[in-house]
Amino acid sequence: MPGKGIIYKGPLPKEESPKAKKIKTLIEEIPQTIPQQTQKEVLKTVEHIISNIRIGKAIEEEPLKNVIKQMVEEVISNQEAMLNLIKIKSHDKYTFAHSTNVCALAILLGIKRNFNKAEIEEMAIGGMLHDIGKVKISEDILLKPNKLTIKEYEEIRKHPLYGYEILNESNLSELPKLIAVQHHERIHRRGYPQGLSGDKIHPLSRLVALVNLYDSLTTDKPYRSKFLPHDAMRLIISQSGNDFPIEDVKKFVEDMSIYPMGSFVRLNTGETGVVTRINRYAVIRPWVKILLNAKREILYKPIEVNLVKDKERFIVNCVGEEVLFE
Ligand SMILES: [Fe+2]
Repeated sequence: MPGKGIIYKGPLPKEESPKAKKIKTLIEEIPQTIPQQTQKEVLKTVEHIISNIRIGKAIEEEPLKNVIKQMVEEVISNQEAMLNLIKIKSHDKYTFAHSTNVCALAILLGIKRNFNKAEIEEMAIGGMLHDIGKVKISEDILLKPNKLTIKEYEEIRKHPLYGYEILNESNLSELPKLIAVQHHERIHRRGYPQGLSGDKIHPLSRLVALVNLYDSLTTDKPYRSKFLPHDAMRLIISQSGNDFPIEDVKKFVEDMSIYPMGSFVRLNTGETGVVTRINRYAVIRPWVKILLNAKREILYKPIEVNLVKDKERFIVNCVGEEVLFE
């Protein structure tokens, strides 16, 4: 059975009202594919690897491979629940949470596309360490809230190469290294650091690139607030054929849905709910657990509806989680 850890870590009102408490409980009840304990272990592993690299120590492959194996097993065995995309929030300087989210999503998409376990594990390592090169870039640049100078921007654009150099010192296989160096490459030579054409970019690097972009867009940055999941998906769809192959984007949307798991949505009925399951061939009509009625009153026994079957209801738009607590 999927774990049921605390999955909502966003801001709550200072004085928690009974309504806020109940909503928090309802959200916590949504099953998670990756138990919280494993998420913590993954975060710890990334943190450990980064602090080792900073003092010039090599990457210890064994603990890394073990935690990845465990995560892959858990996603495989909990596939039915799919991945709960109420994400681990990023509160750290070195984006440990981002690494974990990208890793988890890469695993989920790898499974959906029937890659073999070895490939998925390698891709997951690549997903986890894709931004490792950022340890070589100064915090002043990484955390700068204002516009970067051309020189600073150029320095940031070196992180894929730095990542490759770091991973090349280890005994890891080629795929994680390729993912690190290629995750900002875009077709038509529009990416960096090498400006590769589409056929030169490894398909799994392209997949991690999409996952990375999705997770970055849906995370607050010093220079902009996060996109709602369906706005992020729309932006990615708009890049289809320009930055990413049309076929890649099509599959990504099918797998993730336009309203990914964990998105909060408003229905035509005025009700508000959370997406709990995706209907692969009807991505705009997922399963929704309704948490608030049209009067914004909490449903103490929430109902779950399959929008493919329930023709009376449809999604009007995505809302931020703060809407639930208003
Ligand atoms: Fe990056």
